[in-house]
Amino acid sequence: MQLVFLGPPGSGKGTQAKFIAEHFQVPHISTGDIFRRHLSEGTPLGQLARQYMDQGALVPDDVTESMVADRIDQPDALDGFVLDGFPRNRAQAEDFDGMLRERHRRLTRVLYFQVPEPVLIQRLTGRRVCRQCGATYHVIFQPPRIPGVCDVCGGELIQRRDDQEDTVVKRLDVYRDETAPLVEYYEERGLLAPINADQSVEAVTGAILAAIGGQV
Ligand code: AP5
Ligand code: ZN
Repeated sequence: MQLVFLGPPGSGKGTQAKFIAEHFQVPHISTGDIFRRHLSEGTPLGQLARQYMDQGALVPDDVTESMVADRIDQPDALDGFVLDGFPRNRAQAEDFDGMLRERHRRLTRVLYFQVPEPVLIQRLTGRRVCRQCGATYHVIFQPPRIPGVCDVCGGELIQRRDDQEDTVVKRLDVYRDETAPLVEYYEERGLLAPINADQSVEAVTGAILAAIGGQV
């Protein structure tokens, strides 16, 4: 199962990738999470990525692509992956096609998460993430049992720097200009599966499994 999750920021890609990757026992590969891990560890890649992420802009393609190439070659990803947040523009999509071709691999499906823009803004500005384990919550839609505390590990819940409203607006602009054209790109290649992602978390999981022929 080699899946790409495509959709605007806040459409629930990360939330769903966790379940779907577990279901098929393949790794969840999120380029955003990899950058954030480097950032918290203070690596040179993290420092470079921060300049772009804080502006809501894309990290340069060459940096992102070589990171993805390394990751899909790891032993745990050889049987499949759920790729969340990549590719994100036409150049990345074309280079990713080349990367897969060289490796004699092919995409199974591209799941396209559809959510109206006002809902995205509400989801992003209310998102909280665990500083320790990265689990995701929402102050209204997915609140933790104790406010500000992670249910999984007891860690502190914080707001992502790029979830401030002005950066959210910038990220949605970048999505519209650079990433949205990939919907047509993958439709032309017969890979696209649109998903109504403006439903409960459980209903979205069900819709994804139905689209890829998995069991709920
Ligand atoms: P990245 O981390 O990929 O962020 P994103 O694409 O903007 O996506 P998000 O993580 O914001 O949203 P999501 O769709 O995963 O939603 P979630 O499940 O959390 O990228 C961050 C930055 O890294 C980029 O801006 C860029 O700088 C850089 N970057 C990353 N990849 C790159 C690339 N390929 N090239 C260049 N640069 C790159 O859900 C959101 C909220 O909604 C949560 O609070 C959740 O609890 C809630 N929620 C989820 N589902 C539901 C539901 N069904 N109902 C109600 N609430 C829900
Ligand atoms: Zn935690």
